Amino acid sequence: MSYKPDLNKSVNLTIDGVPVTVPEGTRILEAAKKANVKIPTLCEHPDLCKRAVCRICVVECDGRGKLIAACANDVWEGVSIVTNNLRLFDTRKTILELILANHPQDCLTCVRNKKCELQELAAEYGIRESSFGRNDSGGKPVIESDTIVRNMDKCVKCGRCVEACQEEQTIRAINTSHRSHEYGISAPYNQTLLESGCVFCGRCAAVCPVGAIYEHDRTAEIWAGLNDKERLVIAQVSAGLDCALNKELALGCETAGTVTAGKIVTALKLLGFDKVYDGEVSAGISDSELSEELQKRISTGGLLPMITGGSEGVYQFVKNFYPDLADRLATGRNQRRVFAEVIKREYAASEKADISGIMTVSFVPGIAGKYGADGKTDIAITAVELARMISLAGMDINGLSESPFDTVKIDLPKGDSGAKKEMVCGFAQARKALEAVRKGENTSQWVEIKV
Ligand code: SF4
Ligand code: SF4
Ligand code: FES
Repeated sequence: MSYKPDLNKSVNLTIDGVPVTVPEGTRILEAAKKANVKIPTLCEHPDLCKRAVCRICVVECDGRGKLIAACANDVWEGVSIVTNNLRLFDTRKTILELILANHPQDCLTCVRNKKCELQELAAEYGIRESSFGRNDSGGKPVIESDTIVRNMDKCVKCGRCVEACQEEQTIRAINTSHRSHEYGISAPYNQTLLESGCVFCGRCAAVCPVGAIYEHDRTAEIWAGLNDKERLVIAQVSAGLDCALNKELALGCETAGTVTAGKIVTALKLLGFDKVYDGEVSAGISDSELSEELQKRISTGGLLPMITGGSEGVYQFVKNFYPDLADRLATGRNQRRVFAEVIKREYAASEKADISGIMTVSFVPGIAGKYGADGKTDIAITAVELARMISLAGMDINGLSESPFDTVKIDLPKGDSGAKKEMVCGFAQARKALEAVRKGENTSQWVEIKV
C-alpha cells in the first residue's frame, strides 16, 4: 500500500534545536522554512516533483551519520534535524566543486550572470577555486529555430528541464542520455529540438537554474534599429508583459508600485521607439479574421471544430501529435505577423514611409511568443530581454510615469462572435480536448489552445 500522509495530523520536530509543528507529509525543506532556516538547493524547483539529484540539500537526522536530502524526505514525529555544521558545509562545498569542475565558469560573459543559482551557491560557500581542476569540453551554444539557445557545457544535470518537458508539458522532446561521466540531457538521437518534436514553449529555459537553456537574444538588432535615425521602429506590447517584467525585475505582480503597461510605454518611448501599440490591436484583428474563417466553415460545411492557438508552437503541437486533426487548424496568420503587416501598410500609406525601413518589435511575456514570430525586420522579444535593455539604459522603470498607447484605426473583418468556443490552457489540457475531437465527442465549433 502506498504511503498517504494525513494532512490533518500534526508532526512535532526540531530544526537546529528550534521546535516546529507541521502537517504530516511536509518535506524537511519546507519545515525548515517554517523555522526560518534556509537549506541550500539546486535541483529542487517549487513547480516540479521531488527529484533528489544534486544532494546539495543534505541534512543530518537524530544524530545518526546518514545524510538525507531535505528536498525529497518528509519529516516524522520527534525527529531532530541539523541543517548546518562543518560536516554538512564541507559535503555541500565538495559537491559544488565537483559540479564546477565540469562547468566553463565563464560567469562574466554568461547570459545568466547575477541570475544563476549555481553562481549564488558558489558565492555563498566561498568557492574561489575548485580542488578538482576544470574539465573544459569546449562545446558551443546552439541556436534552435531562432528561439532557444542550448549550451550543454553549462548544464548541471539537475533534470528540471526534462521533467518540465516530459511531465508538465507532455511533449517529451528532451531526455536524459548515457551514464556515468557521459550522462547528460539531449534530444533523442542527438536531433535538433525541432526534429525531436519540440514546440518551443520555453518551459525548459524557464526552470533551468543556470545558463544552459535560454532565449535567443535579439536585443542587439533592436539597439541598432533604434540608433538608425532613418528607421521607424514600432513596438507592440502583448498582454501579460507587465506581469512577466515584474517577475523578471523581482517586483510583485499587480500590486501598487510595480511596473504597469503604461510605464512600459514610457520606457519604450525613452528607449527610442517611434510608436508603441497595445497588442490587443493585433489580437483583435487576428480574432476577427478567425471568426470570419469559422463563419465560412460553418456556412460551407467545413471541418469543425476549428483549432487555433496564440503561438506557433500550438500549431506545431497539433501537427506533431494529432496530424489527423491538422486540417482543422485555422489558416489565420500569426498575431505578431498580423501586427507587422498592418503597421507597415498603415505607415507606408499615411506617411509615405519606406516599408523595408520599418522595424516592428513584439514584446511578449515568454519564449512561446517568440517562436515563428521573428523575421528579418520583425522581431519578438521576451520580458527577460526587455529587462536587459532597460538595465543597459540605466532606467528605473518603476519610477516612470504612465503614458497611453498610440492608436491606429483598423477596419476589422466582420466575424460572428457568438461561436461555441472551448478554451483550454496548456498542452496537457489540449490533449484531452483533442482526444475528444478525435472521438467525435467534442461539440464545440472552435477549440482555442493557450500556452
Ligand atoms: S521548449 Fe518546451 S517542448 Fe521544447 S524542449 Fe523545452 S520544454 Fe520541451
Ligand atoms: S539544461 Fe538546465 S534544467 Fe536541464 S538539466 Fe541542465 S541545468 Fe538542469
Ligand atoms: S536540492 Fe535536494 S537533492 Fe537537489
